[in-house]
Amino acid sequence: MEFSIKSGAPEKQRSACVVVGVFESRKLSASARKIDAAAKGFLTRILDHGDMDGKLGATLLLHAVPGVEAARVLLVGLGKEKEFRDSEYRRAIVAAVRMLNDTGSLDGTLYLTELDVKKRDTAWCVEQATLMARETLYRFDRLKSKPENTVSSLKLITFSVVRRTELATAELALAQGLAMADGIDLAKDLGNLPGNICTPSYLADQARLLAEEHKLGIEILETADMEALGMHSLLSVAKGSHQAPKFIVLRHQKGKAGAKPVVLVGKGITFDSGGISLKPGAGMDEMKYDMCGAASVLGTMKMAAELKLPINLIAVIPSSENMPGGSASKPGDIVTSMSGQTIEILNTDAEGRLILCDALTYSERFDPACVVDVATLTGACVVSLGHVTTGLFANDDDLAGELLAAGQSSYDRAWQMPLFEDYQEQLKSNFADMANIGGPPAGSITAACFLSRFTKKYHWAHLDIAGTAWKSGKEKGATGRPVALLSHFLIERAGKTKAARGTRQSA
Ligand code: BES
Ligand code: MN
Ligand code: ZN
Repeated sequence: MEFSIKSGAPEKQRSACVVVGVFESRKLSASARKIDAAAKGFLTRILDHGDMDGKLGATLLLHAVPGVEAARVLLVGLGKEKEFRDSEYRRAIVAAVRMLNDTGSLDGTLYLTELDVKKRDTAWCVEQATLMARETLYRFDRLKSKPENTVSSLKLITFSVVRRTELATAELALAQGLAMADGIDLAKDLGNLPGNICTPSYLADQARLLAEEHKLGIEILETADMEALGMHSLLSVAKGSHQAPKFIVLRHQKGKAGAKPVVLVGKGITFDSGGISLKPGAGMDEMKYDMCGAASVLGTMKMAAELKLPINLIAVIPSSENMPGGSASKPGDIVTSMSGQTIEILNTDAEGRLILCDALTYSERFDPACVVDVATLTGACVVSLGHVTTGLFANDDDLAGELLAAGQSSYDRAWQMPLFEDYQEQLKSNFADMANIGGPPAGSITAACFLSRFTKKYHWAHLDIAGTAWKSGKEKGATGRPVALLSHFLIERAGKTKAARGTRQSA
């Protein structure tokens, strides 16, 4: 799909379809009014007949509207004008793109990007429209033997802006949105691939391809390298599987020479059976998604590379399966992490923290500006925040603030949870420096507390994406989150802040 930006009157567009909005109670948006005027009240008459009420997401396709150059006019319901905010805007874009894709149009020009969205600017509208369009068009059908018969003729989507002076800003927002969408699509593809294809070796190969394509630095550590480094916590997770673990390091060095890098660490468990502390069978297939942290870090690297972000950025991805093979870790086993701290493995299903802790210690060598880890870490996070919000933990409030703001501006939202010392008690072990579980209360907090013991030497934040990385049910699939959040975080850090500014949370 191609995308472009334009500024011009809707009635004069030589497009297969122009898309304009209608609010509830049949109130026309500004661009719909222009069409209506050119068509001598044609839209008003149709709406008066009751064919379209303007309910959010409703659509009505009209052909051969008099006085209008485009072959079709697509009306999209926007809901109540007073309640039209960012989430309504996003839903209207989805409705428009779905309809465009389902009808015979070769191209469509969306005037929805001209709408006033509370507290959001033109750049935001264009970037979000790009993301929502790509989201709507995303398919994962490469493992079906025959392509599903949903061939669409849609080739080009154009977003309109009110003033010509906004064209440059909108172009930048479009480029940024497309790079983010490419990163999100990569994260979704990797997440959706099953565990028998997407193994640690497969992730390493994909990282190599990404490095080749964008001239990134790459290093893949093998089992022997990890042994030499003393990563016995990570290796204890891999022991139960026939798949070799991989430790992937990617470097994007486009910042000032010598500037401290941002390090992104992604949990790459390509299948989490629970190990000897085996998970229940129902829904276990979804544990193929346990590498979505790794996938989002790779997606974010792709975004940064495509935009040539002027920043030093390093991806660190510990990858393994968690299986209950004959040499698997057993409850009660004690291992020594790379940091030297010993860990009593009371539950082999709390494996994410066991691979992350060694990756976090390894990250010290980069003298990082900050380290952000991303992990489908705890079922408890799904209990507390559901599938809407990512859990955020940090040992530095400025870093937490930056990530929260990036979540708001990208509509990929996170919420900060406490890391009070009092919780650390729950990790006490009678036999080792710490246990790998903290009991039922506050499960996502004690998981983060565990990680915090390996991050004392730098500013650190942890994103628990257990609830947000994929959807279950009829629409089962990876979401690509939190690539959008991380993109805005890095774009801000790189100082390219012209596009897509959102506002900070007020409530
Ligand atoms: N990958 C899971 C976390 C998870 C569970 C993500 C459900 C998404 C949905 C993680 O490795 C895990 O199994 N965590 C355990 C920790 C417990 C044993 C302390 C959990 O959350 O049950
Ligand atoms: Mn687990
Ligand atoms: Zn896991």
